[in-house]
Amino acid sequence: GWQHSLRPKALSDYIGQHTLRQNLSVYIQAAKKRKEALDHVLLYGPPGLGKTTMANIIANELGVNFRITSGPAIERPGDLAALLTNLEEHDVLFIDEIHRLNRSVEEILYPAMEDFALDIVMGKGPGARSYRLDLPPFTLVGATTRAGALAAPLRDRFGIVFRMQFYTPEELTLIIKRAASILNIDIADEGAREIARRSRGTPRIANRLLKRVRDFAQVMGSGIITNEIAAHALAQLHVDGIGLDAIDREVLKTIIYKFNGGPVGVDTIAAAVSEERATIEDVYEPYLMQIGFLSRTPRGRVATRAAYDHLGVPWNQNSSETG
Ligand code: ADE
Repeated sequence: GWQHSLRPKALSDYIGQHTLRQNLSVYIQAAKKRKEALDHVLLYGPPGLGKTTMANIIANELGVNFRITSGPAIERPGDLAALLTNLEEHDVLFIDEIHRLNRSVEEILYPAMEDFALDIVMGKGPGARSYRLDLPPFTLVGATTRAGALAAPLRDRFGIVFRMQFYTPEELTLIIKRAASILNIDIADEGAREIARRSRGTPRIANRLLKRVRDFAQVMGSGIITNEIAAHALAQLHVDGIGLDAIDREVLKTIIYKFNGGPVGVDTIAAAVSEERATIEDVYEPYLMQIGFLSRTPRGRVATRAAYDHLGVPWNQNSSETG
């Protein structure tokens, strides 16, 4: 599908995550020189920042197979054993949402990661015997929105750990122009910049907004995405001037109006805006914290002065809480 073709295939086509790209390039070249598997890689951070894309690129650059699964998809140890025994030497096994692996599956993963071995117990009770099966050396790439939710022994077995960063408007502008060119979308530089500024630092959002704005350009304009068309379309989508969507604003307004600016617990916020706690924590809060609109305190979430200013709410009502 289109999504697949939009994804960069090589490290050199990937925009942003500069530190990760530079260092990975070294690690990949070194592993190839030594004819070894690349060390296991953990990518963490908010959704939509390119973790799966990067995992795919690692396999491409290594010239090996890319096998993809997810934490919730691996229900029993045997499911993981089947995946592991079908790997070829130096392959990349990608486990998305790796924090959702269950305990019994995790236990299989430890010797697999550390010694490239599979420990199999046959039978039960006094007659039980344990076998060790060798696996081909492979690279596990794990992705998670919450590194803190990983068991410490699992986290410690990754030699390369990287937190994905939000993208700058300049990087997103390049990503949007690249996607527009692949999709044959006519876009002015200013139109690309307008979408980029309002994509919450997230390529997945940028690419989605690009397609929606194109719809407006084709129906209401000349087909070309200008900054006026982009601004009009994004307003229709309830995306504000800095890229906050309706739920972002609801989260902030809940804290400000219902809880006097906070502190308030995340469960309370989630209930008030009818979203899951994990969605608030993994999707909404990281960006609001990144732009300095929200802070986490031991007693709960607090809306900052910048959030009040953005929403046009007078700040004085709450000055005692956050200084
Ligand atoms: N499309 C989505 N994310 C991208 C990225 N980081 N670089 C290039 N194209 C992309």
